[in-house]
Amino acid sequence: MPKQDFVIERYDPVTERSYEQQFTAEYEPGQTVLDCLNSIKWTQDGTLSFRWSCRHAICGSCAMKVNGRSMLACKTQVTDIVDRGDPIRVAPMGNQKVVKDLVVDISNFLDAFERAETWLQELPDQDPPSREYRTDKEEFDRWSHTATCIHCGACYSDCTVVAADPKFLGPAALAKAYRFVFDSRDSKKHERLEFLSEKHGIWDCTRCFMCIEACPKDVLPMDAIMELRTEAMREGITNNHGSRHSNAFRGGVRKRGRLDEATLPILSAGVRLGAIPELIGYTPGALRLLKSRKLIMAAKRHGANREGRRQVRRIFDEVEAEKARSAVDAEAFAAERSSALMAH
Ligand code: SF4
Ligand code: SF4
Ligand code: FES
Repeated sequence: MPKQDFVIERYDPVTERSYEQQFTAEYEPGQTVLDCLNSIKWTQDGTLSFRWSCRHAICGSCAMKVNGRSMLACKTQVTDIVDRGDPIRVAPMGNQKVVKDLVVDISNFLDAFERAETWLQELPDQDPPSREYRTDKEEFDRWSHTATCIHCGACYSDCTVVAADPKFLGPAALAKAYRFVFDSRDSKKHERLEFLSEKHGIWDCTRCFMCIEACPKDVLPMDAIMELRTEAMREGITNNHGSRHSNAFRGGVRKRGRLDEATLPILSAGVRLGAIPELIGYTPGALRLLKSRKLIMAAKRHGANREGRRQVRRIFDEVEAEKARSAVDAEAFAAERSSALMAH
């Protein structure tokens, strides 16, 4: 049987000592990182700690960092990651406090679901149905991918915003919130979108794609967050930095054919009294830009010429028209479908 070296990050909470330890494990093709960790624990060092349960990528408990990226140890085959005889490096998930070896404290991750109230809040004054509350297939297809989350935390572990702001709701809780925002059986769509548009919510995501890459279940959290932004703006929840920034960005490009960096921060903060502290906060950065002449260069840039601006506007208008057409098509399709179902 082939042999593989593993370098495992360990932490002893009693002595508070962190260290790396190397082990060698035999494996057969088809065996996973979790199989090797179990073999190490059962035959070499019984004190090595890590979580696992199902061994079938469904309980979500074996997420850890393998060669620097968060993934399920039970879904990761050794043969897929061996690289020129280098050791496989195993470490606990990121963005969470290590309890022991590869076990982390997932309280923050779970709290985010509670903060986002990711459970169905039923419509008031409705008689309970004789069987289950039903939804239609088209609606189900829209959010079912977000309902496949197994709460493994791999996305949260690799999220670059959680690393900087532990209060950020994080990709998994936001994707789960998406599932309820687009569920017509839920009564709190608007309130949810208002909450999600606040600080630490949808507008704080930097679209780094890490959650999409880490997710073993194709939940596509970042895409869900982007759709939540669009839906929040459609619901008129625009009195926040994120949607002002989005409108200023879009409006500037449509008007001048380029991004207007000089006015973007002011328009994003908003022309209002409450924006003064935020604008004052920009002062040191603006002074630095002035000193390096970058602000003057940004202000001097005129953007596209007349023909270029016309082309940019044409693209904008075509995209908007296409978006409107697909919304109308979707509505017409849904209406046609439900009358066909009723006739049936
Ligand atoms: S795309 Fe957004 S939510 Fe996903 S990992 Fe990056 S910052 Fe976090
Ligand atoms: S969204 Fe994906 S990576 Fe994140 S917790 Fe759910 S299943 Fe895991
Ligand atoms: S052991 Fe259950 S997901 Fe890996």
